[in-house]
Amino acid sequence: MSLKIRSYRKQDEKEWAKCHMLVDLEATAGQLLKEKPEYDGKTVELVATIGDRIVGFLDIEIEYLEHTLCCKKTKGNGMLWDVGVLKEFRGRGIGSSLLKEGIRRGKKHGLQRLEAWTVEEEAKNFYEKFGFRRFYDYHHIRCEKREKLKEFDRDGVHVISLYAHVMPEADLKEVIKKYEPKQVLKCSGFEISV
Ligand SMILES: CC(C)(COP(=O)(O)OP(=O)(O)OC[C@H]1O[C@@H](n2cnc3c(N)ncnc32)[C@H](O)[C@@H]1OP(=O)(O)O)[C@@H](O)C(=O)NCCC(=O)NCCS
Repeated sequence: MSLKIRSYRKQDEKEWAKCHMLVDLEATAGQLLKEKPEYDGKTVELVATIGDRIVGFLDIEIEYLEHTLCCKKTKGNGMLWDVGVLKEFRGRGIGSSLLKEGIRRGKKHGLQRLEAWTVEEEAKNFYEKFGFRRFYDYHHIRCEKREKLKEFDRDGVHVISLYAHVMPEADLKEVIKKYEPKQVLKCSGFEISV
């Protein structure tokens, strides 16, 4: 059976969620979505299929108002929200095919620059191999030590878990010392002109 890249259809949702969940299960920062996200702007939403099986997916949203989705202020911005391929089908060019087709269709909606963010090291290699340029690095931290989080309590609301972005201007070593996070991930932003 051959690989097909086609538009996502509403009736794909269950099979899409299954595929997404399997990809997310072994990701460093998976979200385990039960439903497919819906977007405000114009989108390119694709699936890669082999027979009846969805083996990969991709979502691109085109920015409608400048600087509302993407980091850089420029015309023709698009955000690559999601791309994934089932583990047993990786390394066969499916991710690259999804991206190529996503960009081709995105250009019809005015896409000129695509932005992608990830904490996954494998995806960083994938983006660079495809021709993306890394333009930004910062960190994600997950803190769960209640005594370190008390300073964020407000109005009787107690913070028991905190997921935060540590921006480049912060001293990461000091942040780690102060909040003793359970998880620290380096997140990188990538861009490509299309
Ligand atoms: C990233 C991902 C989509 C790549 O899919 P794929 O179908 O394996 O990608 P391709 O086969 O088109 O790979 C293209 C190139 O990317 C690079 N690459 C892909 N996977 C890689 C890996 N695990 N380690 C290092 N480089 C990798 C390689 O250079 C590869 O070219 P090559 O096979 O000629 O060496 C897939 O690994 C995945 O689903 N990962 C988990 C989800 C994820 O991290 N998504 C992105 C962040 S939201």
